[in-house]
Amino acid sequence: MVGILEDKDRIFTNLYGLQDPGLEGAKARGCWNATREILQQGSGWIIDNMKASGLRGRGGAGFSTGLKWSFMPKEVGARPHYLVVNADESEPGTCKDREILRHDPHLLIEGCLIASFSMQAHAAYIYLRGEYVREREVLEAAVREAYEAKLIGKDNVHGWDFDLYVHHGAGAYICGEETALLESLEGKKGQPRLKPPFPAGAGLYGCPTTVNNVESIAVAGTILRRGAAWFAGIGRANNTGTKLMCVSGHVNRPCNVEEAMSIPLKQLLEEHCGGVRGGWGNLKAIIPGGSSVPMIPAEQCETALMDFDSLRELRSGLGTAAVIVMDKSTDLIRAIARLSYFYKHESCGQCTPCREGTGWMWRVMERMVRGEAEMSEIDLLLDVTTQVEGHTICALGDAAAWPIQGLFRHFRGEVEERITAYRRGRPHIQGHTLAAE
Ligand SMILES: Cc1cc2nc3c(=O)[nH]c(=O)nc-3n(C[C@H](O)[C@H](O)[C@H](O)COP(=O)(O)O)c2cc1C
Ligand code: SF4
Repeated sequence: MVGILEDKDRIFTNLYGLQDPGLEGAKARGCWNATREILQQGSGWIIDNMKASGLRGRGGAGFSTGLKWSFMPKEVGARPHYLVVNADESEPGTCKDREILRHDPHLLIEGCLIASFSMQAHAAYIYLRGEYVREREVLEAAVREAYEAKLIGKDNVHGWDFDLYVHHGAGAYICGEETALLESLEGKKGQPRLKPPFPAGAGLYGCPTTVNNVESIAVAGTILRRGAAWFAGIGRANNTGTKLMCVSGHVNRPCNVEEAMSIPLKQLLEEHCGGVRGGWGNLKAIIPGGSSVPMIPAEQCETALMDFDSLRELRSGLGTAAVIVMDKSTDLIRAIARLSYFYKHESCGQCTPCREGTGWMWRVMERMVRGEAEMSEIDLLLDVTTQVEGHTICALGDAAAWPIQGLFRHFRGEVEERITAYRRGRPHIQGHTLAAE
């Protein structure tokens, strides 16, 4: 067997699109099986079981999905309830939700019905990343099939009137932030809202709303069919279940794979990706959870587990479980400068620390790539990252600060060497004491 997860425990059995993504194929794989019976158990049962499964949101922050659902008002008042599915998937390195959208869309549609029922929502919206054109076509075809088969819609076979709308974004990273997404869905400029109020109190059109990632919703049907204990039995405590992981960069076979949470990072790379290019000894560093989380050096990759707690202990994070592998040929300073450019480009500009700070950090990083910076600017740059981090409306500010902090935490010496090398033979450059002196 390759990896840890056994085939019998896979949720996304059409991850690679080898079978029919349509309704017949989905039913043959177990989707839409006993959905009515699940709804008949009632909303409390569904939410309790989601909590018991230990599922933590797959969009990056890792908040308990069942707990989030329980925050919605128990009774529907004057305002309708909504479920909104975050299919914006723009975090660099992350390419898991698209496989669900184009290869197993019915798992997502079924999950939308179940989640909406449990939160007493009669309508849900799926907000798709602008670039996901083919994915939208497949998803829309699946939604049409579900309507025609009366699985959703008015007077459907499940006894819960439910409409599902697919909304195509225009392609902006910030629209993946849940409140910016809601603004965009309402037809406004995609800029994050101040919280509180949280979406469960006032979300879409000011109504109680829950926003969840595609994967969080798409696993719900299988969890409830197979039982919370089954899901909770995979991985380790507080880090349960199966997880889609996307591996890119310097491995022999980059891939997407569904694995058991807490699989050792090294095992993931060796068994699913054919190992690091040039062998394990050629590894330099890994960004384990999408571009926003700090990198970890090769020594820590030896023992790191792919889960929330293990990576947090290493001062990084599981994020979206998008693993970016960098071998010894990588110019890490340049790689992080490129990410800094991304965050500068994607900042929505509302908060001064983010709007000004992302541009400032990027410009200094570019000079550090060339070695042109002053040695004293290293600490100045780190100080600026802490002024951005935690001082903004949304977490994009943190996301811009963390990769830089990760670089200096583990590879400060490389930046110092670059600055020293640039100055060597240039006595006319005025500056501070050089590391080499
Ligand atoms: C700048 C930024 C971009 C984000 N992009 C995404 C995204 O593309 N997809 C996603 O599911 N969550 C994204 N998130 C996280 C969402 O705000 C939210 O936490 C998530 O959709 C909740 O779903 P979950 O509880 O199922 O993980 C982003 C957050 C930030 C701050
Ligand atoms: S942190 Fe950046 S992206 Fe987020 S609201 Fe502020 S300016 Fe916009």
